[in-house]
Amino acid sequence: MPEFTLKIRRYDPESGRPAYWQQFTTDLAPERSVLDAILKVRDEEDGSLAIRCSCRAAICGSCGVRVNGRSALACNTKLSTASERARAGGLNTDATPDGTIVVEPMGNMPVLKDLVVDMDAVHWKKVQRVVPWLLPEGDPPEREYVVDPDTMMDVTQSMACIHCGVCVSACLSMEVDPEFIGPAALAKAYRFVGDPRDAFHEDRLRDLAEDPHGLYDCTHCFACVEVCPKGVAPMNQIMRLRRRATQDYEVKDANNGYGHEKAFTGLIEKYGTLFEAQLLPRSFGEGSLVKGQTKPAAVKQLVDSLPTAFRGLARGKVTPRKALTHPKLPDQDQVRRIFREIEDQDERVELNMYIVGESDEAGAADREPAMGDSGAER
Ligand code: SF4
Ligand code: SF4
Ligand code: FES
Repeated sequence: MPEFTLKIRRYDPESGRPAYWQQFTTDLAPERSVLDAILKVRDEEDGSLAIRCSCRAAICGSCGVRVNGRSALACNTKLSTASERARAGGLNTDATPDGTIVVEPMGNMPVLKDLVVDMDAVHWKKVQRVVPWLLPEGDPPEREYVVDPDTMMDVTQSMACIHCGVCVSACLSMEVDPEFIGPAALAKAYRFVGDPRDAFHEDRLRDLAEDPHGLYDCTHCFACVEVCPKGVAPMNQIMRLRRRATQDYEVKDANNGYGHEKAFTGLIEKYGTLFEAQLLPRSFGEGSLVKGQTKPAAVKQLVDSLPTAFRGLARGKVTPRKALTHPKLPDQDQVRRIFREIEDQDERVELNMYIVGESDEAGAADREPAMGDSGAER
């Protein structure tokens, strides 16, 4: 039986001792999980080691930890995988050449003891923040609410959440702004904004867009998408909330999320690449460069942003030449064609990888290969 070394972060606030690392060696089959190894250590070596767990099958969502810097469910992480990753190192952690598996409590939440964090203080508090229940209007029907199954398809992905908090642990925006509502709670919000039975979509979206720690606090780092064990892809749900807020309800928020989206897409349509010097004034002018430079409120925001602009210039992020001129992509017409094609569609197509991805693959297998299709070239 191969041996695995676990280096576990220990902390017991009642002991008065600061946090420390403790190493254990245990023998288990490589396909067994990190949770199995932790429980074996607890049973055989140190009964005071604290970890929360229940199902051991990636269902209950209670065993979230960080394994070699990566947030994950301990029961869903094989010892062999963890050990290989430990040898390779990664973005969040140095390599341990001997394959020592480093286990820490989840991030962005206070530690109660060893590997147990206070989910109430952060994760559940944020879930409460988004009003996590249906708000239908009018008298309830005599029997159940009946909805077309197709209209629920869009929310199935967010409904798959098991509230493990792994995405919260990995969220880079939350590290900088602990008040950020965060990936799990915003994915939960989409579950109701996408539900046809809920009567307060617009109010919900306005509330989340206006909150300085809300919809527009996400920086698209993809960390939550990468670590979620259930394929919820919280960032995608946040992007859906934004699309609904801007396109369906034209929510013009104090955080300039609406203006920023208009400016960003407008610039890509026009130039094919991002003209950064115009992004700020256009964002303040709801997409318009003229408005951004003449509307008093926009001018005030521009003036307030000058120190940031000067810092960008000082660090060479933007040069005065780049700020004044910007080349268009040589095949800019192709970019415009893509814009036209999307805008001419009668309905917005939301890609739900959870469901549509699979049927798309099946469809792709059935369909005739088109010219230029990689299938035709093989
Ligand atoms: S994509 Fe957004 S919500 Fe997800 S981890 Fe990054 S900042 Fe957080
Ligand atoms: S979105 Fe994924 S990672 Fe986040 S709490 Fe839900 S299941 Fe866990
Ligand atoms: S023990 Fe239930 S998800 Fe890991």
